[in-house]
Amino acid sequence: MKNTIITATATVFMLLLVPDTLSAGVESLRGALPLDAPAKIFSAKRQQKVEGGFERSWKQQPPPIPHEIDKDRISLRENTCLKCHSKENHEKEKAPEVGKSHYIDRTGKKLTRISQRRWFCNQCHVPQVEASPLVGSTFQPLPQKK
Ligand code: HEC
Ligand code: HEC
Repeated sequence: MKNTIITATATVFMLLLVPDTLSAGVESLRGALPLDAPAKIFSAKRQQKVEGGFERSWKQQPPPIPHEIDKDRISLRENTCLKCHSKENHEKEKAPEVGKSHYIDRTGKKLTRISQRRWFCNQCHVPQVEASPLVGSTFQPLPQKK
């Protein structure tokens, strides 16, 4: 108990010290504005809509969403993505079917309904916006085997 209190106190002190030591040369995304000044208004980013979908960076990457999803709803009771992407509907909606893996449960059993693990689509699939990265990255996609 006593140790926990000491660790907790030490952590609080460290947290208090960190911003001070880092502040030299580092600017927050809000800009170098005083705390009580209103922040700059960010310009709205445009969503990237890619016909034919985005190229994947590796085979098992969940593909990013190439269309708008503003009107889609995913809740415990409904999932409007499945109106186009499910096994039953994808042909008539001319949409790609969800991956085969989306109909398999965690024990490897094939299911007739979408797996609960794949219900919340935007846990893995997200739209992309035209924005420059906030920090640099040297990431390179894996070479595509076709
Ligand atoms: C009205 C039908 C419709 C709805 C609703 C819909 N989609 Fe799509 N989706 C499509 C079509 C059509 C494409 C193919 C677009 C293309 O390749 O140009 C697509 C493409 C995708 C892709 C890219 C697949 C790939 O292999 O690149 C993903 C991921 C995706 N949708 C996820 C979703 C998610 C998640 C939702 C719900 C939030 C959703 N979609 C709702 C029709 C739909
Ligand atoms: C836990 C992460 C995860 C969730 C949740 C998920 N997906 Fe996926 N999805 C993936 C991965 C990984 C792939 C690529 C590998 C594969 O096909 O399994 C994929 C592939 C896809 C593809 C392309 C299939 C193909 O063969 O080109 C579509 C379309 C798609 N998902 C739609 C959806 C929709 C719609 C939902 C919600 C009902 C959903 N996904 C939920 C991870 C996920």
